[in-house]
Amino acid sequence: MADATGDTHAEDTTRRDFIFIAVGSAAAIGAAVTVWPFVDQMNPAADTRALSTTEVDLSAIPPGQQIKVMWQGKPVFVRHRTPEEIASAVRDDYAQLKDPQFDADRLKQEDGQAGKAEWLILQANCTHLGCIPTFAEGVYHGWFCPCHGSVYDTSGRIRSGPAPKNLPPAPYVFMNDTSIRIG
Ligand code: FES
Repeated sequence: MADATGDTHAEDTTRRDFIFIAVGSAAAIGAAVTVWPFVDQMNPAADTRALSTTEVDLSAIPPGQQIKVMWQGKPVFVRHRTPEEIASAVRDDYAQLKDPQFDADRLKQEDGQAGKAEWLILQANCTHLGCIPTFAEGVYHGWFCPCHGSVYDTSGRIRSGPAPKNLPPAPYVFMNDTSIRIG
């Protein structure tokens, strides 16, 4: 009798456990199904991701020239520096700078890897009030902002005028030897 009662109790417990487990699983699946559409909505669509990056073919830019490309609606300078422009930028690493920064640090790729000295990728809005500086002008032959006279060197560092900061590097990576992806 005692054995029979024990068996029944054990059987009840097992059945109850099964019900709890079954209900628990159903709840978990329900939660997963409910959450998934929200998670999916938060992922940017592929076409949005594509718009957030800009690929640039470097082979079309000769040394001593730059092009301006648009990245997320903002202008970006892609400058192919000459050996003289690189030497000038590195020589002034220890000059009196309003916004001190080494040239090499301004070339780094988004993943932290070193850039290439001849390629400088900078956001193109003057850090004063946002005008677009003109190429290779000013006493340092970097950029000159005609709006209020800010002068940038060949590393895009502010050297004189009202702009408070260097032209900020744009996030980029080399996809291969002759192309980069911005963003
Ligand atoms: Fe460039 Fe004022 S916006 S100096």
